[in-house]
Amino acid sequence: MKSTGRPTFFELLRQSLQNVEGGYDLLAPKFDRSPYKTPEEILLPFFQYIKTEEKFGAGLDLCCGTGAATIHLAKICDQVTALDLSDGMLDQCRKKMDDADLSAHVTFLKGDALELTFEDRFDVVVSFGAFGHIPIEEEEVFLRGIFRALRPGGSFYFITTDKLPFFSFSNFAQRLFNGIMRIRNWLIRPPFIMYYLTFRLPLIRDKLAKVGFQVDVRNDLSFDRRFNYLIPLKHFKLVIATKPLQAL
Ligand SMILES: C[S@@+](CC[C@H](N)C(=O)[O-])C[C@H]1O[C@@H](n2cnc3c(N)ncnc32)[C@H](O)[C@@H]1O
Repeated sequence: MKSTGRPTFFELLRQSLQNVEGGYDLLAPKFDRSPYKTPEEILLPFFQYIKTEEKFGAGLDLCCGTGAATIHLAKICDQVTALDLSDGMLDQCRKKMDDADLSAHVTFLKGDALELTFEDRFDVVVSFGAFGHIPIEEEEVFLRGIFRALRPGGSFYFITTDKLPFFSFSNFAQRLFNGIMRIRNWLIRPPFIMYYLTFRLPLIRDKLAKVGFQVDVRNDLSFDRRFNYLIPLKHFKLVIATKPLQAL
């Protein structure tokens, strides 16, 4: 049978029995052909929207994976740091940047997004496809690390959704997924932390404000609605969380 290059059911099953780092190390070579990579239908309009006439100085792609967003970020920043927990994913990211001739602009860093040690370093921080890996009780720790890492006036840009309609396929599918994941983590060690329905408005707005960000939720960025995704793109909103120039 001809291989599609996509991860097989058994490969995904094996991956799901690891912890997050080990799971992504295994998936890395085929990650870009999996449904987990953030698609260009999201990335293109996002980066088109946030780019400014002058390039940003330093950018951080947090939980960069194989570099789906890093490649865009590297085109609008002088220098980018691509940080991820998984060596396998970072290797793929490095290859992608080499192929695009962008490696000179990118520093690859293995690290935990919950233990950031940067201070006043970045003008822009982005993160895609990883909020489900941040336990809800650690969201504030995650946001505090980003706040510290940004220079005053710098912004954390991301997309998320409001609460989804209760009677919707997405809401049902994500609750079902979370239920299965809770059972998996109850039965099997090490746990694989990945839950949907986290990092959502309006709660995340309150957490951002508590940490000290000025928060702007934009309604004027729209995505191609024909694109089929577990969470329909019409629900996505761009959030711009800015570290004030002067401490409040
Ligand atoms: C679904 S992938 C998304 C990758 C990429 N950002 C994208 O949008 O295609 C999630 C990534 O987050 C990384 N990750 C998960 N938890 C992390 C943590 N605590 N610190 C750093 N990276 C983490 C994983 O290793 C994986 O590469």
